[in-house]
Amino acid sequence: MPGDPDLEALGEEVPLLEGIRTTRAIRRLKSDPVPRELIRKVCEAGTFAPSGGNRQPWHFVAVTDPEFRGWIADRYRPIFRDYIAPGVERAKSPDFPESGRRMQRAAIHLADHLHEVPVLLFVAGWLRRGEPQLQALMPAAQNILLACRAVGLGVSLTTLHLSFGREVDDRLGLPDGVRSCAMLPIGWPLGRYGRPPRRSVDTCLHFDRYEAADGASGEEEDRDAG
Ligand SMILES: Cc1cc2nc3c(=O)[nH]c(=O)nc-3n(C[C@H](O)[C@H](O)[C@H](O)COP(=O)(O)O)c2cc1C
Repeated sequence: MPGDPDLEALGEEVPLLEGIRTTRAIRRLKSDPVPRELIRKVCEAGTFAPSGGNRQPWHFVAVTDPEFRGWIADRYRPIFRDYIAPGVERAKSPDFPESGRRMQRAAIHLADHLHEVPVLLFVAGWLRRGEPQLQALMPAAQNILLACRAVGLGVSLTTLHLSFGREVDDRLGLPDGVRSCAMLPIGWPLGRYGRPPRRSVDTCLHFDRYEAADGASGEEEDRDAG
């Protein structure tokens, strides 16, 4: 972890919009431990998300136990491999963007090293009318990603654990009516934060009425995002 022992002050100086523009999925992480106080700090940022009726349906469960992390990684890895395989095939084409290949490699690295990631943070929440309140839980997750960026932790948003979600939720001890919706692997980054590749806002901003840009099909591209 960085030399700054003042965890309270850590991250407070990052300008908001710069932090937003330089928050990206960081999937190559060190196995060094992360202080609980910092986990508390980033989760506190999560609690400032908006929620319907200010119901604040979230619960955050930080898995740090090595045996439990290994158990999760053993289930995530094969599911991820199956998921990414068709994209890896497509990436063999010379037309495939290099940034897509880099993302695949990083996502494969994460899957292969998930058991070494010091904190697997589950974002969970109360169901409402039988449905997870994703409208509140995803903003909470995004606030956590931004807070990690501010304090210098690496993190990415993942949802593949939902393939074995019930099993995980049981092991997390979530009560009936509470489900996890995202898993955020958190650790000190091996790489650096930086501006992620994004299409210009001018291709997706419209005033008063949608207008397709010249040459745009209007359909979403098929992206193997992971
Ligand atoms: C709903 C959702 C689910 C995602 N699931 C995964 C996942 O299971 N595994 C993974 O490595 N990344 C996952 N991601 C992360 C995306 O791949 C990432 O946000 C995207 O590639 C942009 O990354 P960048 O900000 O570094 O450009 C998910 C993102 C979202 C929004």
